[in-house]
Amino acid sequence: MSAKKEYHFIAISGSLRKGSYNTMALKALQQMAPSHIKIEQVHFDNIPFYNADLHTEQLPGEVVPLVKKIKEADGVIIVSPEYNYSIPGALKNFIDVVSRHPDKPFSEKAVAIMGASQGQIGTARMQYHLRQVMVFLNAYVVNKPEIMIGHAQHKFDESGNLTDEFLLTQFPLLLESLVRLSDKMSSGS
Ligand code: FNR
Repeated sequence: MSAKKEYHFIAISGSLRKGSYNTMALKALQQMAPSHIKIEQVHFDNIPFYNADLHTEQLPGEVVPLVKKIKEADGVIIVSPEYNYSIPGALKNFIDVVSRHPDKPFSEKAVAIMGASQGQIGTARMQYHLRQVMVFLNAYVVNKPEIMIGHAQHKFDESGNLTDEFLLTQFPLLLESLVRLSDKMSSGS
């Protein structure tokens, strides 16, 4: 029997805070991924604000390894809160900076989006804004399942483990969808 194809996905949490529910969700996804799927979290806390005066000729040095990781990945997973009905500024800035790199790392990349908020509709508005941004970047976003984790404060235990039974069924489905989309992107069909 042939070995299963291996996948390497890059994961980004849109929240910078230590006790973030979104980072908990990202880690839950990492933990439940089968052994042939590696999910590597990257951090963007050190990326400066994009400034065309400074960054048109040369992007900040911190960006280059992240661009390379995204470019080489089989897909990207973004797990983000919703701030004021939209994408958190730090995450948006990261995407803006990366998008100016000539390698265009998001172009034709398979992307999965999910998010957790303490509100009722679990980042739905942020997710639709992020999908719109991905259109400009020429990324392809998984359509289903849509994972909108509302009332996130009740979905994890004190150690940060995901406890919600429905979500425990949805996370693997999102990964399966990302694998399928990644395969389509790499086969060019
Ligand atoms: C929020 N929060 C929030 N929640 C929501 O459902 N819709 C929203 O528009 C906002 N707006 C918002 C703006 C700002 C500036 C903050 C700091 C928070 C609440 C948010 O869901 C909650 O803080 C989450 O816990 C943030 O995610 P992390 O940090 O736990 O991953």
